[in-house]
Amino acid sequence: MSLNKGEYQILPSILAGDAGKLVEEAHSVDITEIEYLHVDVMDGHYVPNLTMGPDVVKSLKKNTRFKLDVHLMIDNASEMIPVFIDAGADILTIHQEGVLHLHREIHRIKQLGALAGVSLNPATSLETLRWVLPDLDLVLIMCVNPGFSGQDFIESSMDKVKQLAQWKQRDGAKLVIEVDGGIGPANIGKMYEAGARYFVAGSAVFYQSDRKAALHKLLHAINSERTRQGSLQV
Ligand code: DX5
Ligand code: ZN
Repeated sequence: MSLNKGEYQILPSILAGDAGKLVEEAHSVDITEIEYLHVDVMDGHYVPNLTMGPDVVKSLKKNTRFKLDVHLMIDNASEMIPVFIDAGADILTIHQEGVLHLHREIHRIKQLGALAGVSLNPATSLETLRWVLPDLDLVLIMCVNPGFSGQDFIESSMDKVKQLAQWKQRDGAKLVIEVDGGIGPANIGKMYEAGARYFVAGSAVFYQSDRKAALHKLLHAINSERTRQGSLQV
């Protein structure tokens, strides 16, 4: 199982859509370049917001063509891992801060057939992942404090991504670096340059009047950065 089908992905975050019609909202971001939907699961304890459960994941799986990137922001993530994989998570991301035995849970996710991601809050050091980096399919760097769409990007996230990208290269690690929170046309190119390859986008897509145009704008910003890097290498 490989994450790197495309070299990079934009993952629309359905949390930023209208909660009363999520399947319809998912269809509104259906352009060929989009492979995954990002689904934020919040329990009102781990973060100050309450959102979607396994039935919503099941419904999105059944009624859309997207793979699902499920981001758990809940207290009892360990207990809920099998439930969300059964519901249809293709990538399951848990928070480093939210589980006691991270190594065990990463391997449980993989054994149950999903790709394993771990997320870090803005205040959490990369060092906390040092000994599990080779086990991971994905590291999700939170660029806002988790809980809501539409918050401002926290600048220190950029350096965190750069450092992780250096570690990844040094160790030859396979993991993909995903960024979530405050990502938009103004910073997506810089985050690509820093080393991120999966870009979660909530408000930058769903709060826009033309969502498909908004996605194309984000893709264009990444492609401009790739072209710039290419021209630097000549
Ligand atoms: C925040 C969530 C995000 C959120 C991103 O806790 O994890 O996925 O929807 O929204 P934007 O892109 O608007 O910051
Ligand atoms: Zn998220």
